[in-house]
Amino acid sequence: MKDQRIIVIGGTSGIGLESARRFAQLGASVTVTGRDAAKGAALDVPGVRFAQLDAARRAQCDAFFADHGPFDHLVVCASGAAGAGAFRDLALDDLQAGFDGKFWPQLNALQASLSGIAAGGSATLVGAISARAQQPGTAGLAAINGALEAMLPILASELRPLRVNMVAPGVIDTPWWHRVPDAQRSRLFEEMGAAVPAGRVGTAADVADVIVMLAGNTFITGSVIDVDGGWKLRR
Ligand SMILES: NC(=O)c1ccc[n+]([C@@H]2O[C@H](COP(=O)([O-])OP(=O)(O)OC[C@H]3O[C@@H](n4cnc5c(N)ncnc54)[C@H](OP(=O)(O)O)[C@@H]3O)[C@@H](O)[C@H]2O)c1
Repeated sequence: MKDQRIIVIGGTSGIGLESARRFAQLGASVTVTGRDAAKGAALDVPGVRFAQLDAARRAQCDAFFADHGPFDHLVVCASGAAGAGAFRDLALDDLQAGFDGKFWPQLNALQASLSGIAAGGSATLVGAISARAQQPGTAGLAAINGALEAMLPILASELRPLRVNMVAPGVIDTPWWHRVPDAQRSRLFEEMGAAVPAGRVGTAADVADVIVMLAGNTFITGSVIDVDGGWKLRR
């Protein structure tokens, strides 16, 4: 990663921030983006700079990548959290907001990046195990993440020699979950951690390890790597 130029879309918190930190520790030059300028200004990670960008806005993505210039590896972590809930009561406006918060920002960022990304570089999208988890209450999340996951191998084929991969996290303790009240979140983490063979929920570092590996390994493309503590073996 020495002197590699990395862009992490949605890199001011959680998985994206931890990935940025790891890339920088390996000698890369890293730009992280997010919508909240205050969050960006508060970052103090050597080798990591911040650029404000709402990936839901295509014109902003185009301007950002034109301004940034050539780079080697893209990581797209951006997402909101809308679209969860039992289907019978799921407000379809909320599911639409889920697509607006994740599906479109990820595609905006990837497509806009293509003019600047180096031949021989990589793009890593962050999906979710909800695409295949078959968990009641997550039909909407399955739709959003499943749509991205269905596109992944086709993108890797079309965009070659650019490598395009995905990590599919399970339950990861990041600020994404801060919208759930503390006591409820602790209970959920305990239950979900106990159900999987790993015996715990994941950390941002668990996922960042794989993101950094995917950027560096030039023999992996079109792959979705689950980082979920063994979700399909849960009981
Ligand atoms: N945590 C989990 O359990 C879990 C499980 C499965 C999948 N994932 C996926 O992992 C990815 C990272 O999630 P996380 O847990 O690290 O969440 P997080 O801590 O909430 O981080 C999300 C990051 O994305 C940025 N962001 C959100 N919308 C954006 C937009 N439109 N444009 C640019 N930046 C945007 C946020 O900053 P601003 O708000 O300032 O924009 C923040 O930097 C997401 O795709 C999420 O769906 C997470």
